[in-house]
Amino acid sequence: MSTFQERLAAKGRELQELYRSLYGIDGSGLIELLERKHGERKAELLELDRRREADPSWYLKPGMLAMTMYTDLFAGSFKGIIDRIGYLKKRGVTYLHLMPFLATPDNDNDGGFAVSDYSAVNPAFGTNDDLEELADRLRDEGISLCMDFVMNHTSDEHEWAVRAKEGDVKFQRMYMCYPDRTIPDEYEKTVPEVFPSTAPGNFTWCPEMGKWVFTSFYPKQWDLDYSNPDVFLAVLSYMLDWANRGVSIFRLDAVPYIWKKLGTTCRNLPEVHVIVRMLRLAFEIAAPSVILKGEVVMAPKELAAYFGSSDAPECHLLYGVSTMVNIWGALSSQEARLLESWVERILMLPRTCRFVNYVRCHDDIGWGFDEDREKELGIDPLRHKIFQYSFYEGTFPGSYARGQLYNYDPSTLDARSCGTAASLSGLEEAIQRNDTALVERAIGRIALIHAVVFALPGIPLINSGDEIGQLNDYEYIFSPGKKDDSRYLHRSPFRWDLAELADDPETIQGRISSAIEALHRARETMPEFDDDAEVSTWHTGNSSVFALRRQSGGRTLLCVFSFSDKEEYCRFDYFTGYYRDVFTGRTVEPGRGFSVRSHEYLYLEESRE
Ligand code: GLC
Repeated sequence: MSTFQERLAAKGRELQELYRSLYGIDGSGLIELLERKHGERKAELLELDRRREADPSWYLKPGMLAMTMYTDLFAGSFKGIIDRIGYLKKRGVTYLHLMPFLATPDNDNDGGFAVSDYSAVNPAFGTNDDLEELADRLRDEGISLCMDFVMNHTSDEHEWAVRAKEGDVKFQRMYMCYPDRTIPDEYEKTVPEVFPSTAPGNFTWCPEMGKWVFTSFYPKQWDLDYSNPDVFLAVLSYMLDWANRGVSIFRLDAVPYIWKKLGTTCRNLPEVHVIVRMLRLAFEIAAPSVILKGEVVMAPKELAAYFGSSDAPECHLLYGVSTMVNIWGALSSQEARLLESWVERILMLPRTCRFVNYVRCHDDIGWGFDEDREKELGIDPLRHKIFQYSFYEGTFPGSYARGQLYNYDPSTLDARSCGTAASLSGLEEAIQRNDTALVERAIGRIALIHAVVFALPGIPLINSGDEIGQLNDYEYIFSPGKKDDSRYLHRSPFRWDLAELADDPETIQGRISSAIEALHRARETMPEFDDDAEVSTWHTGNSSVFALRRQSGGRTLLCVFSFSDKEEYCRFDYFTGYYRDVFTGRTVEPGRGFSVRSHEYLYLEESRE
């Protein structure tokens, strides 16, 4: 248990040095900000700071279960969520990630990712006090609130942008604005496009200002200029305010993009890491119960840097994007070798590097596999990508998936995929065809992919609606602000009518939710899921079958996942004796080998008898 002054004494110097290295000015304003915001923290949060300082890996307890959702889609408002806390508790949720909930323009706001006021919630969801009440009530129930903090850009309706448009140079300096194409054209030579078909180019002409503005994402999302210390201080100040209202996890949206430099891709630059390290230090000093989760949708080789080093940690958690991609890749191709090598790579990272693992989130699936590994396996990266998005679009012969393409780029043949977990796993097609055997298979796939997520180190995250097998919603095409963005296919109102069926084990919803609940229960109760367990992949002798071995406290758990659509055989060298599946009680001898049904998964516990 330490005081603000003690933490400042221990960490303030590094923070000030980093600040000076980046901005060339002294950081006394920054320290004053921390002191002021810490002084505004209420008693319950100071108490939480104390508890979490004493237990710094609180967020890695095996019982942690995250859920992500849009406030309006789940329950209309913050008060609506308060009324539904019982549902979250029933599902075992301990970490609630709310998609962006700050004020945005009414339409065309990129699902809330175009923020027009960092200090106010979207009035449609309630008031700032309602949000605080929600955070309080969640905390009382042992649920931590995660806020999506859109730090790379604001909406062009944010006050800073409005003042910039009016010609105020101070506010133009919050963004990256250029009078002609000279510098933008230079940037365009090296900066890739995020949305090549829906928002091509990285600059937008602003007629009011008579300048080009850097817009990595949509034209209405103006990139902030973090080389201006006023931007950093303002953003940090807002984050501390939300932490003081009870947010305890920040998802740093699009963090790799926050620093730009001519001649580079403007992604993952060293200065990004300086800023993330500064955020980490700032929270450790002023609000130490807060943790940072980076949204880093980048090539696998870039990810580890966002954890920083043991001496200078950055994010506590990262979004497990590549794991998600590799799980879907294995499911369609019935081939788990890329998944296995990806998981091997993350298991080699230091223990402090932990991911939030999920099957689906609010975004698309971008087919970013490890190209070197693909080539080693004789897989042509482009053809593989085309296979994946065609499969999940449902156009590949024999595909069971119902999804849509996202940002198809005819010049590179790149595309990503959208759709809910259930629709991509074949449930939509099965229901349409009224075929119970196909429904069975789809449920099997949905359970399988969640079983992988729950077996990995880190925190499992469920995308609200997936726990009841919610299908795609095609209504978005009738909405002008959404129709060109197929991510809205899987962003639809939570189906409370279907959620009610989840208590009946005979229903599709009951089958899926009870499978997920059983995974959560295993994870929560079995010592093999302790965060300090030794985890490794294990060869199965069958490239469709993926396996993980977890060992802790002298106990071994072997988790086996078949991605095949037919019966397969697998064998585990160096395993002796009998193992028993915690879900079905089935007993096998891994060393001698056994067969697995299509899409079967087993959590095999060493049998002590
Ligand atoms: C992140 C979000 C995505 C959004 C983008 C721009 O990648 O996950 O939904 O479009 O940032 O804010």
